[in-house]
Amino acid sequence: MVNVDCLSYAGNEENLRSLENDSRLHFVKGNISDSDLISTLLKSFKPQAVLHFAAETHVDRSLCFPEQFIETNVMGTSRLLTACYDYWRGLPEPARQCFRFVHVSTDEVYGSLGPDDPPSGENSPYAPNSPYAASKAGSDHIVRAFHRSFGFPAMIVNATNLYGPYQFPEKFIPLTIINCIQGHSLPVYGDGLYSRDWLYVEDFCGAAAAVLKAGRPGEKYHAGGGNEKTNLEVVQAICAIFNEFRPDSICASRITFIEDRPGHDRRYHLDCSKIKKELGWFPAEPFLAGLRKTIRWYLEHPDWVRAATGAPYQKWIEMHYGFSSSRG
Ligand code: DAU
Repeated sequence: MVNVDCLSYAGNEENLRSLENDSRLHFVKGNISDSDLISTLLKSFKPQAVLHFAAETHVDRSLCFPEQFIETNVMGTSRLLTACYDYWRGLPEPARQCFRFVHVSTDEVYGSLGPDDPPSGENSPYAPNSPYAASKAGSDHIVRAFHRSFGFPAMIVNATNLYGPYQFPEKFIPLTIINCIQGHSLPVYGDGLYSRDWLYVEDFCGAAAAVLKAGRPGEKYHAGGGNEKTNLEVVQAICAIFNEFRPDSICASRITFIEDRPGHDRRYHLDCSKIKKELGWFPAEPFLAGLRKTIRWYLEHPDWVRAATGAPYQKWIEMHYGFSSSRG
């Protein structure tokens, strides 16, 4: 397996440390937008499939730096697809038949749902609201077009909010856990009643693998955890579990309602019946158990946390939240 990662601010080679002696994995520091590199790798390694996880993913950053999102998510996906399409066209017939491209996307492409709206299905209309969501929507459309126009065997998997070990702490769950560990305030946007469906990272890997193995080219599949929670419920659950590990902690008293995210989507929810019915995939991790594992992981990896929350991270925290996370 070849892992291509440009190791942007959210990437970390340390995350692959446990695999460093695994001869099946070949790591390449590179960018999906580098067409020459991707074409060379495709020619040398001759993969049977490409899983496209690479993206700029943080909504708040997309509000500050929209062009980076368009560059990576739209242009990067387009260049990666073009290189893979050229490679696929040149394959001998049996290999051409077997080749698959899986594009990883998000529930955010469908935009915000009202409290009583039914979940978004694979055929729901796109209505992205943030530059991030728009850039992912754009990439989904390009993937779809490569299948419809050229027969390229691509599939899309749209996921709900992922959480678990190794997640960069700009996201809500790891940010909250790390702020609990470090004794900082726990920022909750607006009224805290925005809701998301949470999917444990290993369950999502299972979904991507199921789509790769048995998904039908040209199809989309939704993967969600079935754990729809308000942000306030999530932060309260983190504080309660954190107290099991550190009974003297007073993190719940640090929950702080702050100014809302512009254009904040109220609710996302995906209908995941297709992947369950067609591919037999089901999420296995109950939310509180996944959260407990995640909190334990951050507590047990202080070196990782220290490295992830270095100067560039502090700069983001100061710029975005308007305070230094070194304050209490
Ligand atoms: O829904 C799938 C998407 O989930 C992925 O496609 C995105 O890449 C991923 O970043 C995530 O987007 P969200 O905006 O939902 O995730 P985030 O962790 O930034 O925020 C989750 C919720 O928590 C959201 O309603 C905003 C809120 N929030 C977030 C942060 C960082 C807060 O209340 N306070 C915070 O400090």
